[in-house]
Amino acid sequence: MERRAFDRLGRQVSVVGLGTWQLGGDWGEVSEDAAREVLDASVESGVDFFDTADVYGDGRSERLIGDYLRARPELDVLVATKMGRRVEQLPEHYTLANFRAWTDRSRTNLGVDRLDLVQLHCPPAAVIDSDEVFDALDTLVAEERVAGYGVSVESCDEALAAIARPGTASLQIILNPFRLKPLERVLPAAAAAGVGVIVRVPLASGLLSGRYTVDTVFAESDHRTYNRHGEAFDQGETFSGVDFATGVAAAVEFAELAPEGATSAATALRWAVQQPGVTSVIPGARSAEQAGANAAAAGLPALPESTLAAVRDLYDRRVRAQVHHRW
Ligand SMILES: NC(=O)c1ccc[n+]([C@@H]2O[C@H](COP(=O)([O-])OP(=O)(O)OC[C@H]3O[C@@H](n4cnc5c(N)ncnc54)[C@H](OP(=O)(O)O)[C@@H]3O)[C@@H](O)[C@H]2O)c1
Repeated sequence: MERRAFDRLGRQVSVVGLGTWQLGGDWGEVSEDAAREVLDASVESGVDFFDTADVYGDGRSERLIGDYLRARPELDVLVATKMGRRVEQLPEHYTLANFRAWTDRSRTNLGVDRLDLVQLHCPPAAVIDSDEVFDALDTLVAEERVAGYGVSVESCDEALAAIARPGTASLQIILNPFRLKPLERVLPAAAAAGVGVIVRVPLASGLLSGRYTVDTVFAESDHRTYNRHGEAFDQGETFSGVDFATGVAAAVEFAELAPEGATSAATALRWAVQQPGVTSVIPGARSAEQAGANAAAAGLPALPESTLAAVRDLYDRRVRAQVHHRW
């Protein structure tokens, strides 16, 4: 598996990592056995980068990863966690005292003295604009609670503000064939600054696998049921902010762009991997089969310019009007 560097961490990771929101909650039931199988299939396929958060299953995802890695000391996996969404997202909550308490809890859950990477978990824009917040993050590094920090953002404007901070090691943002705006300014700015880019929601919450129809029903405990219109958190996190019927129709067209022998999901991942400036793409998986197939997508040949152009055309015709002005 190709590996790329987080320059400011001095570490390399696989170009396809693993998103582990599914191992916490909000995606219907994923048993502990299934979660361990997902982790196993990932590392066996060359994945050495996991993305988690303190809020996924209120720590379940972090604890499963911690237990898993403690039992396999031979593995060298970079674990990125996130903090800040176990409380209301108010700027006054982003204090050094809270950062210490939140990272202490993640250190316990993950069973490590020092976190590899902690990301602010989609904070309000005012938090990214606060010098005190970044001073506090620098303090966490100085205290060796974390090796580095990054910011996960919703919008391109927030991304540019986070990239401008000299200590930001990583930026996490949504990028997929239904979300092209970060290609315009965010990826070039990150590359120029030496900030690693973590691509989340690369399958538009599964839409880009082409498996769903307008009649597909998701579990009640799945955000694809309860957050379609942003009822619980930012609408952009569910189906990438695209209305479900529009997304299903656009996914049918996207599937036609897959090279012979490649699935629609693998094509979407390969598309994200080859965008300049991307460090790692972190699809979520609910089964070992998905995790293994996603890792294998890194090995597909690069998509030709004709396919990249067809993706831009599909985006412009079917999706742009719903998402481009929002995020
Ligand atoms: N605010 C934030 O910072 C934030 C927000 C969102 C996500 N994230 C991170 O980003 C990661 C990825 O985003 P995501 O999980 O929301 O969305 P995603 O990766 O776009 O979609 C994941 C879903 O795609 C389907 N899928 C995965 N692999 C597949 C395959 N090989 N074939 C067919 N279908 C496949 C599965 O759907 P089914 O369940 O239908 O099988 C899976 O649950 C998360 O796990 C999390 O770590 C961070």
